[in-house]
Amino acid sequence: MTMQEIILKKRYGKALSNEEIEFFINGVVDKSIPDYQTSALLMAIVLNGMNEEEMTTLTIKMAESGEQNDLSYIDGIPVDKHSTGGVGDKCTPLIMPLVATFGVSTVKLSGRGLGFTGGTVDKFESIEGFNVALPISSFPELISNCNMAISGQTPDLAPADKVLYSLRDVTGTIDSIPLIASSIMSKKLAGGAKGIVLDVTCGSGAFMKTIDEAKALSEAMIKIGKLSGREVVAVITDMNQPLGRNVGNVSEMQEVFEILSGNVIEDVVEVVSVLSANMVMLAGKNDGMNMEELINECKLRLTDGRALEKYKDLILSQGGSLNSNGSPVYVDYPNDCMRVNATEDGYITEIKADIIGKASVKLGAGRQVKTDIIDYGAGIGFFVKVGDYVKRGDCLCALYLGNEHINEDDKLFDAAEMITDAFSYSSEKPEDKPVVIEVLK
Ligand code: URA
Repeated sequence: MTMQEIILKKRYGKALSNEEIEFFINGVVDKSIPDYQTSALLMAIVLNGMNEEEMTTLTIKMAESGEQNDLSYIDGIPVDKHSTGGVGDKCTPLIMPLVATFGVSTVKLSGRGLGFTGGTVDKFESIEGFNVALPISSFPELISNCNMAISGQTPDLAPADKVLYSLRDVTGTIDSIPLIASSIMSKKLAGGAKGIVLDVTCGSGAFMKTIDEAKALSEAMIKIGKLSGREVVAVITDMNQPLGRNVGNVSEMQEVFEILSGNVIEDVVEVVSVLSANMVMLAGKNDGMNMEELINECKLRLTDGRALEKYKDLILSQGGSLNSNGSPVYVDYPNDCMRVNATEDGYITEIKADIIGKASVKLGAGRQVKTDIIDYGAGIGFFVKVGDYVKRGDCLCALYLGNEHINEDDKLFDAAEMITDAFSYSSEKPEDKPVVIEVLK
């Protein structure tokens, strides 16, 4: 078997055998296949696709390319959630304590932000002392402490994905359903969960721009789950505007604390409750409740203080600091340095999430390249959402910078210009759109 033959086979649109996929993944990991051949095959997959069996074999081989997490110490069925990426996505710090109130344990291996989407690990690191560099061997103790453990992804988890993802990033081969589905699902399989709830974001701030694309990706991941013995639920959610009211690390964690303290920020509460209810159901901890009852129960527990108590347990369990009033101590604070105002009268019809994500990176809240250093205080706080009516000159949002960056005016002017362009207006009120679009199983 040679790599040239495998590339040619896929170039002519034929299905690869299990042996050929295994040969490819082994060669990627042991570096016997050069990057140019790997890239050629990736492009052939983008152009000619993969059938369900090929996708599943690719996923399993990628999952088996490194360490596999054994979650047998968890009481009951281990469940996990994953988002395909969004702007203002602060769901994980809300979901972990919420499902813990039902006795559901979560072990999260999360990523850092890169490009215009933020990373959960960076958000937790904005809490003073919170340790996300934990070895997998410490998880059983953390789970017995408080049912929750979160850490950055170890280099040993699905190493084949790391090689493939970095090549895809620079060879125009990111947006391919078989490649995205196998990349996400390989990490989930290696993570050890038996039930997986996927937040498949859809819209300007997501990989999948249309509902049809989001459905196709969801169906591919559900199929891979079935063929590899995992139960998968895909929740398609709207990402045509940032989720919630804040984008940025500390500002999003402040929003998390606000919600847990009883301030209902509707779109976040809706998405978090639907994702959590599906996790509780997959874990079999629904206590006789049907899905509708479970979603309502999640909404209640999220904001009535029960999830807040668990959140504090999580922070303390991983070394984070709390003030005497129970709020987290952050590594920096958002300083309100500039306001962006409406340029027209009208209803807001769109707040392009990808542009907002890029503006927040410009402010310093994210990274353009892996080595960039984050300004944890940087971010954007919104006073309006799609559907709100504004008059020209009304304030749309505040731009934040951390304590050591407050004089960096260039960043503020660049970001303000981008944000102004992200808003669209109309004299007609746009139709109300649900944030949870569809749930697929
Ligand atoms: N997230 C991943 O982990 N992989 C992809 O390919 C896309 C999004």
